[in-house]
Amino acid sequence: MSKKTIILAIESSCDDTAAAILEDKKILSNVVANQEIHQQYGGVVPELASRAHQQNIIPVVDTAIKKAKIRKQDIDAIAFTKGPGLLGSLLVGSSFAKSFAMGMDIPLIAVNHMQAHILAHFIDKGKQLPSFPFLCLTVSGGHTQIVKIDSPSKMQVIGTTLDDAAGEAFDKSAKILGFSYPGGPLIDKYAKGGNIHAFTFGKPKIKDLDFSFSGLKTSILYTIQAGIKENPNFIAENKEDLCASIQHAIVIILIDKLTKAIKQTGITQIAIAGGVSANSYLRNQLKVLAKKENYKLFIPKFEYCTDNAAMIAIAGYYKYLDKDFANQTETPSARLLF
Ligand code: KG4
Ligand code: ZN
Repeated sequence: MSKKTIILAIESSCDDTAAAILEDKKILSNVVANQEIHQQYGGVVPELASRAHQQNIIPVVDTAIKKAKIRKQDIDAIAFTKGPGLLGSLLVGSSFAKSFAMGMDIPLIAVNHMQAHILAHFIDKGKQLPSFPFLCLTVSGGHTQIVKIDSPSKMQVIGTTLDDAAGEAFDKSAKILGFSYPGGPLIDKYAKGGNIHAFTFGKPKIKDLDFSFSGLKTSILYTIQAGIKENPNFIAENKEDLCASIQHAIVIILIDKLTKAIKQTGITQIAIAGGVSANSYLRNQLKVLAKKENYKLFIPKFEYCTDNAAMIAIAGYYKYLDKDFANQTETPSARLLF
């Protein structure tokens, strides 16, 4: 039997320092250190994120290797996030990966963070996997995309946001409501007891498969400001209804465009990825749609929705099979495209 391939992966694109060990397509360890420092600022502070990555990276990698019960010498290649993301954060992960590759004399693999979110669907053998081509709605704090995936190395963005990302729409709405960062999971939590039709907000009219969330954000702000003018306790008294209505408005925009993409391409295998794919309402609404229309739906495990290094590892694994290696001159790219 041929030796299995062991990959160490590093993710440091935003405010999570993460490392994972993958053996072929199986995850042996997946460690994420969240940076709580940003909560008090209502958003990620890039300078603080880079410093925290610098402090976290060695202990996080060390823990990942120990948890996987392997030795450093067993690692066949190191994969890292090349972009997109915050440049200072990316520099920490890429510099670490380059040094590790050079020190251990193993191949270096540069991974696109957004493609990795999608390829997280291929982690762990045994479960049902999407076959090609499929569509993926990739929704995170920085991106909102509809992607057509023809193979692990051939993907095309067919729709994208023209302004804010879906995660930003959640986080900025949450900030208006006075929640701490990141507010998406809190909106999800409070929405559970609310009425989705309690408040209505302006719907964007954007052509093709593109998205826009900035108008919705303004509409939410005006509704809340008008409410507070009438009643200073407006937010506290309507918290659940506001969350349910905001969440519904964001999710409907996403599902409408995904439906349009399915009709346009004729592809009925659909997946979701990225931090916002952890949203329970989005997951449930898509399950209802898939059942009604007989679509094949792939929803990632919670641990692979938000930023993690397991997804960088599986993306790195496919590149390893293709011998698609980087070298020591590789530089991170804040706005990396596909
Ligand atoms: O993919 P991710 O971890 O980081 C980026 O690459 O941006 O996504 C983070 C985003 C944040 O905007 C966060 O509020 C959102 O994902 N998010 C959620 C939920 N969990 C995370 N949004 C809505 N509902 C959730 N349950
Ligand atoms: Zn992400």
